[in-house]
Amino acid sequence: MIQVTKPITPNLDQVQKYLEKVHTRAWLTNNGPLVRELTERLEDYLGVRNLILTANGTLALQVAYKALGLDKEAVTSPFTFVATASAMKWQGITPRFADIEADTLGLCPEKAAAAITGATQAIVPVHVYGNPCDVEGFERLGQARKLPVIYDASHTFSVSLKGRSVLNWGDASTLSFHATKLFHTVEGGGIVFKDDDAYQRAHKMINFGLGGSPDDIATPGINAKMSEIHAAYGLCVLDSIEQVLERRAEILNAYREGMNGVVKIPKWREGATQNAAYAPILLESEQQCLKVLDALKSEGVVARRYFYPSLNTVSEFQVDLKAGCPISVDAASRALCLPIYPDLADEDVQKIIEGVKAGCMA
Ligand SMILES: Cc1ncc(COP(=O)(O)O)c(C=O)c1O
Repeated sequence: MIQVTKPITPNLDQVQKYLEKVHTRAWLTNNGPLVRELTERLEDYLGVRNLILTANGTLALQVAYKALGLDKEAVTSPFTFVATASAMKWQGITPRFADIEADTLGLCPEKAAAAITGATQAIVPVHVYGNPCDVEGFERLGQARKLPVIYDASHTFSVSLKGRSVLNWGDASTLSFHATKLFHTVEGGGIVFKDDDAYQRAHKMINFGLGGSPDDIATPGINAKMSEIHAAYGLCVLDSIEQVLERRAEILNAYREGMNGVVKIPKWREGATQNAAYAPILLESEQQCLKVLDALKSEGVVARRYFYPSLNTVSEFQVDLKAGCPISVDAASRALCLPIYPDLADEDVQKIIEGVKAGCMA
């Protein structure tokens, strides 16, 4: 089977060199040298400051919400992976969904503005598929309503907008370094904070809330630390990131050329680079989407309905039945993500293109 994604497995000798150092030091976790090295290299590579590495992207969201004081309600996108909203519910925050832009599939600033209530404490847009949201629109909205903007930037590794990292927008951006992501640490994540105080608070929060010493309990916290073993993997993956991005871009271009005029794709934000983290296509209808899924499956190809269902239709998350989010519901019903990972062979890319075409004509 050709899966929708396949983790990068770095060179074993390289991993072993790092692991030997870890074993010699017997320093396996607790902000060790490899976590600090990876933090510095990522800050440099991504062009950001105040980066905190975490055990995964879900904890990154939870800690970002907590560090910015959310405990009631936040306005967010329904067209995302469930973690954006479930991390809120887990913290006792009610996600209030607003609809997305029909062309980019990012949260719409005007719809988000209309969804704000007296209890809203933040706006949480998602750079879905790595496609930046209308960050300027959200900056204006955040300032006008005095609300922090926290981006779920889990898909946005290495994307820049108008020449600077998209992670520099907003009060915080969270990343996922899960094994299936284009850059990974097996499990892992990160948070970039604009504000130094929030960064310092979150640093304590990921380590049980401890301050300068183990006896100094500065704030309630959680254990969200990245281990040295995970950082070692990340350092190895980071060494090959340019080749990874290059091959992903080739595959994405091949899909676009091969399916031009057959399927639609979300419009990319003007001025933004593309990281080819995902290969989304939009079919004409849910029926056609299911036919394409079947046609691919019969060829041994697994495509995924990312992101389905639209979260505003999930009963656990519903806060306002009138907030229908029809654009998100429609997009979720007919969006598919095709396989994309560096060692996907050219023949397989062609097979997938043919499978999509066959499904569209069925
Ligand atoms: C948009 C989004 N948010 C959050 C997450 C959660 O990240 P993690 O799997 O690292 O916990 C993911 C992971 O796939 C994601 O796609």
